[in-house]
Amino acid sequence: MKVTIVGAGAVGASCAEYIAIKNFASEVVLVDIKENFAEGKAMDLMQTASLNNFDTKISGATNDYAKTANSDIAVITSGIPRKPGMTREELIGINAGIVKTVSENLIRYSPNVILIIVSNPMDTMTYLTHKVTGISKNRIIGMGGALDSARFKYRLSEALDCPASDISAMVIGGHSDKGMVPLVSLATRSSVNVSHFLSNERLDRVKQDTKVGGATLTSMLGTSAWYAPGAAVSALVQAIACDQKKMFPCSVLLDGEYGLSDLTIGVPVILGRHGVEKIVEIPLNQEEKTQLVNSAEAVKKTNSILLEMNLME
Ligand code: LAC
Repeated sequence: MKVTIVGAGAVGASCAEYIAIKNFASEVVLVDIKENFAEGKAMDLMQTASLNNFDTKISGATNDYAKTANSDIAVITSGIPRKPGMTREELIGINAGIVKTVSENLIRYSPNVILIIVSNPMDTMTYLTHKVTGISKNRIIGMGGALDSARFKYRLSEALDCPASDISAMVIGGHSDKGMVPLVSLATRSSVNVSHFLSNERLDRVKQDTKVGGATLTSMLGTSAWYAPGAAVSALVQAIACDQKKMFPCSVLLDGEYGLSDLTIGVPVILGRHGVEKIVEIPLNQEEKTQLVNSAEAVKKTNSILLEMNLME
């Protein structure tokens, strides 16, 4: 199993590290445009192999896609991250051109690759990848919902004063501060709905803290987060590589599901060796349905900027 990660910045490198530590992939190739940077990160990580007991071979390449040839899975993290006070949508001007070039290069050398998109604005970058590569929709996966759900579980575990492993919960919708839809109606602590333990006011605070999870960290760190994004990507890569058939909310192309079409947005999917093996339609309450529709409208508005940029038909 060969995995390519484009962008050897903090998210890409932490993703490579988690994949290596889980020891399921034979090979990880890190690619970056900065001369020798990916090679350096790869060497540093390889020097942890005997300490962290993994056999995954990690190598680096400076913008050389021949080294990524025949990858099974490729992760696109390239582009610029948010600075404090910025929205993810503001990154579109720079990141769209980068994601277009990177996805075209990846497909040239690995025609059967499954792509995982991390670059922001993530839903729109995932949509762009569909438009520029034309590959089948099961092979393009936007990462946001897996990360947002992990942040939702963190906030719920904080409110409940329990380990996150006690929590089952999901965030659907767009990967944006306003667009996320944390599904409180389906969130449980060991199968008991969280509303049994927490007041509506506390749950509203959990939802709000979840939605600004990335922005909160960006203001604390001066740039966007990397451990949880890296871990979320590595979980998706593992689900595909190991054919786990696990369910995650991911940004995928919809064609009538949830009454939505011609956009990619976070909904629950089953991930296995073919990538997206199924889109799961779950019952939502009226409030959640309305929030998902509003989120879809916002994603479509951001997608329309791609047309103005002449990056796709
Ligand atoms: C975040 C970035 C990866 O939410 O979008 O941290």
